[in-house]
Amino acid sequence: MITIALAKGRLMEQAIDILEAAGVDCRQLKEPSRKLFFFTPDRQIRMILVKPNDVPTYVEYGIADMGIVGKDTLLEEERLLYEMLDLKFGRCKLVVAGFPEKRDVWITHSHTRVATKYPNIARNYFLHKGKSVEIIKLNGSVELGPLTGLSDVIVDIVESGRTLKENGLVILEEICSVSARLVVNRVSLKMKNREIKALIDDIQRVVEERENGKVN
Ligand code: PRP
Repeated sequence: MITIALAKGRLMEQAIDILEAAGVDCRQLKEPSRKLFFFTPDRQIRMILVKPNDVPTYVEYGIADMGIVGKDTLLEEERLLYEMLDLKFGRCKLVVAGFPEKRDVWITHSHTRVATKYPNIARNYFLHKGKSVEIIKLNGSVELGPLTGLSDVIVDIVESGRTLKENGLVILEEICSVSARLVVNRVSLKMKNREIKALIDDIQRVVEERENGKVN
């Protein structure tokens, strides 16, 4: 049996969609329920639903053999696992954002406060730039940082750009592009190589077909 950890939230629907297209029966998952684990009818695959930041943890510890999670979460969690495939959905950008009038000021400002759900990414980014900042970890609604005066800027993901726009903020710097990734536990890849490889191949075929525009 293979266990797959799926990130609850914005990637969930498309993760189920890609698994189904790759031949994994996800019918049970789509039924309204508060259950946190599901089996395919043949009980060959078990799926567990976890918070995005916990997907790399479950995969590193081998509780889950595989996982589907955003690259932003992988960069933040820095877990030991294999990143096998870019699934090419859930595309967004990690950015530094703030008020437009702060565009030039914040670069020279010596004490900059950065609010973010991604403290490790933010710390590494500013360290690399040689800029000293104070990181303030938030758990959501990060845009409120500059709006309330808690922080000068934020480091966050931007997808449509709507949240920034509706709160009067703009992108000041782009850090990197991110998308959903398929990750695999290092031991599972050896011990369950045949099953895992077969599933990865099926998922890769779906990703390629979609990229080539053969399937919508
Ligand atoms: C994310 C992110 C931004 C927003 C970006 O938050 O932190 O706030 O989505 O999306 P957009 O560019 O399409 O507007 P999420 O919806 O996950 O909620 P949270 O702030 O509670 O974490």
